[in-house]
Amino acid sequence: MTSNADPAVKDDPRGREAATTIPVYGQLPFVPVRAAGCDIITEDGRRILDLYGGHAVAALGYGHPRLTRAIEDQSRVLLFQSNAVALDIRAKAAEKLVAIAPKNLKRVFFVNSGAEANENALRMACIATRRNKVLAVTQGFHGRTAAAGAVTWNSDKWYGFPQKPFEVDFIPREDIDAAHSMIDADTAAVIVEPIQGVAGAYDLSTEFLDALRKATRAVGSLLIADEVQSGVGRSGHHFAVQAHGIEPDILTTAKALGGGIPCGAVLCTEDIAMQFGPGDLGTTFGGGPVAAAAMVAVMDSIEQEDLLQNVRDREAQIREQCIVGPITKIQGMGLLLGLVCDRPAAEVHKALLDHDILTGTSGDAHVLRILAPLVLEAEHVDYLATTLAKIAPATD
Ligand SMILES: Cc1ncc(COP(=O)(O)O)c(C=O)c1O
Repeated sequence: MTSNADPAVKDDPRGREAATTIPVYGQLPFVPVRAAGCDIITEDGRRILDLYGGHAVAALGYGHPRLTRAIEDQSRVLLFQSNAVALDIRAKAAEKLVAIAPKNLKRVFFVNSGAEANENALRMACIATRRNKVLAVTQGFHGRTAAAGAVTWNSDKWYGFPQKPFEVDFIPREDIDAAHSMIDADTAAVIVEPIQGVAGAYDLSTEFLDALRKATRAVGSLLIADEVQSGVGRSGHHFAVQAHGIEPDILTTAKALGGGIPCGAVLCTEDIAMQFGPGDLGTTFGGGPVAAAAMVAVMDSIEQEDLLQNVRDREAQIREQCIVGPITKIQGMGLLLGLVCDRPAAEVHKALLDHDILTGTSGDAHVLRILAPLVLEAEHVDYLATTLAKIAPATD
């Protein structure tokens, strides 16, 4: 990544953003002007294969006719109304989301982002259990707001608030004994990403997730599955917990849900939902009609274009073809994959970008992340594999 304060690009959007925005982002060394399918087209005419999807958002790639038409049509008919009124399109989005979710999750609360989904999920857990301790898992990422940041591993570097909203502790990942001993009658909830995205697409085992499920149930605390990054088809299942046969009490999702229109959702059981009444939760924009239309379009495409199967096929192809060049191992699930590199992943990231392939780095310095659109095609994977093969393996 180059700094967004690079004086060489003072007159292009990088320089202008550097002059006017708070300088919190390192930015990539190109400026997109449009995108189509899985490709980004830059201002200097490059066509870059996007295997990163804007942090796992572009579920249907770019310019997908069903999604663009849904957004366009809905914005013409009714651009916005809040939750003060019922809307057919919001009801449709809720019905579809409940239909694809783990069977015990019957109710939805719509929000605008992943952090907001987790913020509400954690508040709901504290209210529903009347307890004030939350456990998370080491290496997990849950967002930047007060509660979500409090349960994010290593957030002390940037957290900034004078105190956390509840007591927090971290269960070492994959430590089943620790899970059983740490989850106790004071625990409101355990929050966990079934596939730890930012950590490098690290897929937690069924045994560990099952231990969290059993231990929380045994003491009356709630299991929150954070599927902000792994949800809505990315794992090759609607939600990654379904691959493990685990039913959380609360599930959060966002990113791919709107395919690029900001939205998020908290799903929960009927029992939990019935503990809340008017005024207990709220949002102005959550579940707005354009966001709802986008959600419906994404879920319809997943179903009608058989995208879960496509994700599984592309995952199998990546696993078969891409352990070449600098890649020694692949972790993760579906199109949330971590390519373990024999050198710093940033070097492989740069080498691939030089060949017009955009991937992501991660919290693990040796893991490159693939968060490709669910519509990724076999020839895209062929290109990734042949490009990786051109990068010589490390010699020592
Ligand atoms: C697992 C997980 N939870 C929560 C978040 C926060 O989502 P947002 O950036 O939409 O607030 C992210 C973002 O990367 C995430 O990966």
